[in-house]
Amino acid sequence: MSSVSLYPDQQTLTIGAALTALTESLERVGAESPAVSAEWLMEDLSGVPRLALADHADQMLSTAQMARYRAIADRVERAEPLQYILGHAAFMDLELACDRRALIPRPETETLLATIFADYSTTDQARPVVIDVGTGSGCIALAIAAEWRDAQVTAIDLHQEALALAKENAVRLNLSDRITWQQGDLLEGVPPASADLVIANLPYIATPDWLNLSSEVRLHEPRSALDAGPMGTELLYRLIDQALTVLRSGGRIYLEIGSDQGAAMKEAMLSKGFADVAVKPDLVGRDRMVKGTRR
Ligand SMILES: C[S@@+](CC[C@H](N)C(=O)[O-])C[C@H]1O[C@@H](n2cnc3c(N)ncnc32)[C@H](O)[C@@H]1O
Repeated sequence: MSSVSLYPDQQTLTIGAALTALTESLERVGAESPAVSAEWLMEDLSGVPRLALADHADQMLSTAQMARYRAIADRVERAEPLQYILGHAAFMDLELACDRRALIPRPETETLLATIFADYSTTDQARPVVIDVGTGSGCIALAIAAEWRDAQVTAIDLHQEALALAKENAVRLNLSDRITWQQGDLLEGVPPASADLVIANLPYIATPDWLNLSSEVRLHEPRSALDAGPMGTELLYRLIDQALTVLRSGGRIYLEIGSDQGAAMKEAMLSKGFADVAVKPDLVGRDRMVKGTRR
């Protein structure tokens, strides 16, 4: 691949040259899978499907496409995550709008949901009351509402901007009448013994670890979605405490956790009297979720 200037003097570039320039730029900023990411960006920019880009390598970008190319190239150079540049991300079977107001949905959270769908049957419980705490883009609440048509879903976030994005996603997916939105601190204000399921992917990164995250994450994704405080476990302990009150007898809690937090979270749930407490690994074998049942 011969090198192409990201900001060429000439008025326009071919699809092939733009693809090469974006790939090189993504490599420079240390992006994962630079060639594939550049292809996604070029598909979005040119309208040519990713796998057909090679066949259109000599096609010139239009003036409008060239203007968008320059805007995208700027964002790539600033190491913005691919999903923020594209403005959308895939989660389970859903396509979600995605921007700096909320965390980009992660594969670990898809694993959390896959576990819940495998574990829990809505045939055992009619119209289950499900609460998603720290909803962010709304990914968990929306995936539950899409999968369980009779679930009564409440989505909570401390931050208004995140809730605004989640609501926009619900409208786009035609699920807005299925979810109640609440701005608040964890489960505060939720009535006692009212929920069948509490699900949360809350911030669980300790501040010193947040400082060591890649600049792609640290400079672009909201700190309030990641940095949980000096220990990292602060919000999780508080939520486990509150869930004891909010869950009905037999209700369950599922939490996404950091890979070094499994033992502490298991201990916290057992000490509060939860039954069937289990820590489960993600796809690569790291502890990434804990679950328990309210007696
Ligand atoms: C790790 S992000 C997860 C977002 C989304 N659930 C997901 O899985 O992609 C954590 C979310 O929790 C929210 N949050 C942080 N502290 C909170 C609190 N005390 N109460 C409710 N939400 C909180 C953040 O605003 C953020 O949207």
